[in-house]
Amino acid sequence: MKEVKSVEYGLEKIFEGAQDFLPLLGTDYVELYVGNAKQAAHFYKTAFGFQSLAYAGLETGLKDRSSYVLVQDKIRLVLTTPLNQDSPLNDHIKKHGDGVKVAALWVEDARSAFEETVKRGAKPFMEPTVEKDEFGEVVRSGIYTYGETVHMFVERKNYNGTFLPGYQKWESDYNPSPTGLKYIDHMVGNVGWGEMNTWVKWYEEVMGFVNFLSFDDKQINTEYSALMSKVMSNGNGRIKFPINEPAEGKKRSQIEEYLDFYGGPGIQHMAIATDDIITTVTQLRERGVEFLSAPPSEYYADVPNRLGDHMKMMKEDLNVIQKLAILVDADEEGYLLQIFTKPLQDRPTLFFEIIQRMGAKGFGAGNFKALFESIEREQAKRGTL
Ligand code: FE2
Repeated sequence: MKEVKSVEYGLEKIFEGAQDFLPLLGTDYVELYVGNAKQAAHFYKTAFGFQSLAYAGLETGLKDRSSYVLVQDKIRLVLTTPLNQDSPLNDHIKKHGDGVKVAALWVEDARSAFEETVKRGAKPFMEPTVEKDEFGEVVRSGIYTYGETVHMFVERKNYNGTFLPGYQKWESDYNPSPTGLKYIDHMVGNVGWGEMNTWVKWYEEVMGFVNFLSFDDKQINTEYSALMSKVMSNGNGRIKFPINEPAEGKKRSQIEEYLDFYGGPGIQHMAIATDDIITTVTQLRERGVEFLSAPPSEYYADVPNRLGDHMKMMKEDLNVIQKLAILVDADEEGYLLQIFTKPLQDRPTLFFEIIQRMGAKGFGAGNFKALFESIEREQAKRGTL
């Protein structure tokens, strides 16, 4: 594992070795291309408690697509669908099904973000473009990352509208309450065999990120399958993109299953932070969100052991955690609670992770085995293990 010294976690520059030619303020929005955006918006509102924010479509002058923008605390989800057979979005949906097209990053300067990354080898998706309405102007540009996935750079310092120019405010009479989802903690990409290091290098060279955690197939394996993962972060630690590739095992790994159904590399999961995972997961379950099944009871019996001293600061009731099938892990600095949904669409591709960090900065390495065994039980049902 490459050692990267972290000075302080949070909002200040923490990772030595990260380069600052691409200052990132945070995640701006995540856009999914879906087969039916109207119904998907209803699902994400009802199941996860996202709120209606903005809309663009035929009524706002668009001819070939509709987009519904949902918000919960700092998270903005955009659900976009094609409106006719000529839309280029159809090719994306035919190939990938519903999935994340854009992980948009909030920047001070979208022109420089584009120039600096393209100069370092990024494939352009959209040249810097100024969009205006009565609330000001936004500059956006975009580059491709793995597969057909895109990073847009969004400069909105001269804008005070609802979302972006071209969108109208979306007022709805149907507003299910939020479920405590706060912000995107990390977004994980799956890439093909032997491609992880290519993309690690890409994030280092093109985006100035650092690789601050690595897991090999010795650490991430079950009896049947394995994978490798490296976590990339920008300098201030606000943007974290782990990258997975499959590894040889006795049976087919979940990463291979993803690549087969997504038709190539793409975003596997979005981890969303909450301050109160017990309340969040209780509500999500009541609203019909399906989660991966709980590990066996020995897993929970071993938690005090694995947490050591951190067990003393744990406020949550371990029985409740077990009842909700939430996973527990710890590192030197604290513990974390996490749980994974089943796939959010018919293809076994994109899912959400719900995470509550209590000091821990890791990604639940101590849970990998339990998690992957649970995924394998689902793969076995699908006949894809
Ligand atoms: Fe994760």
